[in-house]
Amino acid sequence: MNTVNNQIQLTSDNKIRHLLGLEGLDKSHLMHILDTANTFIKHGRLQNTNTLKGLSIANLFFEPSTRTRNTFELAAHRCGAIVINVDLANSATKKNETLFDTMDTLEAMQIDMFVLRHQLNGLPHKIAENSQHSTVINAGDGTNAHPTQALLDIMTIINHKPNIDELSIAIVGDILHSRVAHSDIHALLTLGVKDIRLVSPNALASLEYSSEFVQCFSDMNHGIEGCDVIIMLRIQKERMLESDLPNEADYFCQYGLTSDRLSLAKPDAIVMHPGPINREVEIASEVVDSKQSVVLEQVTNGIAIRMATLSILAQNF
Ligand code: NCD
Repeated sequence: MNTVNNQIQLTSDNKIRHLLGLEGLDKSHLMHILDTANTFIKHGRLQNTNTLKGLSIANLFFEPSTRTRNTFELAAHRCGAIVINVDLANSATKKNETLFDTMDTLEAMQIDMFVLRHQLNGLPHKIAENSQHSTVINAGDGTNAHPTQALLDIMTIINHKPNIDELSIAIVGDILHSRVAHSDIHALLTLGVKDIRLVSPNALASLEYSSEFVQCFSDMNHGIEGCDVIIMLRIQKERMLESDLPNEADYFCQYGLTSDRLSLAKPDAIVMHPGPINREVEIASEVVDSKQSVVLEQVTNGIAIRMATLSILAQNF
């Protein structure tokens, strides 16, 4: 369970100052971001705006990323910001400068917002506590949180199925190590979802969420039966000991989403995945490429959600 301090993300008048996690944000905060994101898509096309004109944004990604880093960059450009991608492989952190000194140096360059991904839980929170004027957006910290991914997941679900509080939503796979699952669960509960099913092998379960509205399953067929939404997760190998890695063939046999298994969910169920996808490990190619898959819509919505997040946070300047 989350032990980091999310309190610092709100101002004294309940506005979002940093976006670190979804814990502590209420339904009106989430709906404000979602509604704003929808204004940036017209007839399926992303729009440009000047909400960030004159502001500068630095992307700092200490872990690999394709979707999150590039969609944050595109979102910032679409809002008119000045954007830099800090080249961490060639930066002074490689010459033993502390991350805090690097951040102070970037703040002295008058960077207004930092988009930060790091392998340590709670690192963005520490940077936020330490920052004088700038705003921090968590683009994924360790196994802890990935707030903009959860928001784009919710946007995608609501676009297909507006009555989100009436849905049965399964999250399947490596729940234990998934910051996406952790943020998704918080967001779904805040929005009143009453049937959240966490499906995973026992070794990858996160039992602390188990409650009136959250059930844990180790049997996939049972867990996804009658579901409206299935969110598939990658096995986060980089967070596991080699000895704990499940055998991929066995895993696919028990937890892989195939067309046959998908037929146990509602006929109009949608299939989601934050990416990167490992075909034939957690999900069959035929399902990724099927009409029920909304994986690429999630990517597009990610730009709108990140435009909305940056635009709302920019109102603090
Ligand atoms: C996820 C992440 O980095 O947490 N991906 C993403 O941001 N699109 C999930 C993953 O890496 O499996």
